[in-house]
Amino acid sequence: MIDRIDALLAEARQELSGARDEQQIEAARVKYLGKSGSLSGLRKSLGSVPAAERPRLGKLVTDAIAQFETLLEEARQSIGRREMDKELNREKLDVTLPGRTRRRGHRHPVSQAMDDIVGIFARLGFHVADGPEIEWDLYNFEMLGFPPDHPARDMQDTFFLDPGSQPPPPPGSPPTKGAMQQLLLRTHTSPVQVRAMLAQKPPIRIICPGKVYRSDSDPTHTPMFHQVECLHVEEGISMAHMRGTLDAFAKAFFGPTIQTRLRPSYFPFTEPSAEVDISHPLCGGKGCKLCKGSGWLEVLGAGMVNPDVLAGVGYDPERITGYAFGAGIDRLAMLRHDLDDLRTLFENDVRFLEQL
Ligand code: PHE
Repeated sequence: MIDRIDALLAEARQELSGARDEQQIEAARVKYLGKSGSLSGLRKSLGSVPAAERPRLGKLVTDAIAQFETLLEEARQSIGRREMDKELNREKLDVTLPGRTRRRGHRHPVSQAMDDIVGIFARLGFHVADGPEIEWDLYNFEMLGFPPDHPARDMQDTFFLDPGSQPPPPPGSPPTKGAMQQLLLRTHTSPVQVRAMLAQKPPIRIICPGKVYRSDSDPTHTPMFHQVECLHVEEGISMAHMRGTLDAFAKAFFGPTIQTRLRPSYFPFTEPSAEVDISHPLCGGKGCKLCKGSGWLEVLGAGMVNPDVLAGVGYDPERITGYAFGAGIDRLAMLRHDLDDLRTLFENDVRFLEQL
């Protein structure tokens, strides 16, 4: 009987050490301690041993059962630990991994330039004005001194709208004469000058950023681009005011060391007219490949508002004078970021825009 007890215990120990889960442990418990389990069987068989042997053997069987129960408990705990380890492994966190940063966008370089320009002029006392992108020929050309067949119309490759499929006309009193009823995509922001002067009396100090359209496409021209128009009309305004304002603007936008200069030019709606150059921000005006050695870059067109334009909107040109200028915002943004192809600004490739 003693051998049998030892054999059973050894067998049970082996079985429990190989148990993988609760079910296998339970199966072992039933096998040894169940109603017809082998250890339980030993206890029953005590009845048939000689009475003198019974206490000693009885104690051995009781001890064996107690040992088996200890083994059971150890096996249960070891499985519990294994389950816990598995669980911890599954939920493992690598606290040394770098965090996920939130990617932040930024304003498009053209919008940034536009906001900056508007801010600079707001501080100089200008108000933002607005006009439609679908514009009457009357305001885009006619009242700015481009009569029909005027050669200066060739300066701008206009997108005319098909008269048969005209969209709703822009706000503002519609023209009455035939040719002027033509609608087009505005070729510059200068029609806003006309609209502003028709709508209010001097003094007028406005800044008007917006989209303009010309049938043109190469590295420095896109069919849609942005301009900003500036108009200041009031009694006693001279070219010196224009020069000072332009200089203040250039220094505020490009930096305090920037110089400006005027060169004679022609626009039908200004007299005299000028092209405005700034000293090249990159070479500091010394001359380099990008400015073709001159040290200067042309950035905008300007001039004193033509007296005919003033008379056309009902002002007295003997009393009221003013200046206006128009600049390409995209070109200003290009200069600022040292870009050589305007079209990259509008392709909206995030990999490119992110660098600006
Ligand atoms: N509208 C002109 C252009 O687009 C620029 C300009 C504006 C010139 C105002 C003089 C005064 O070329």
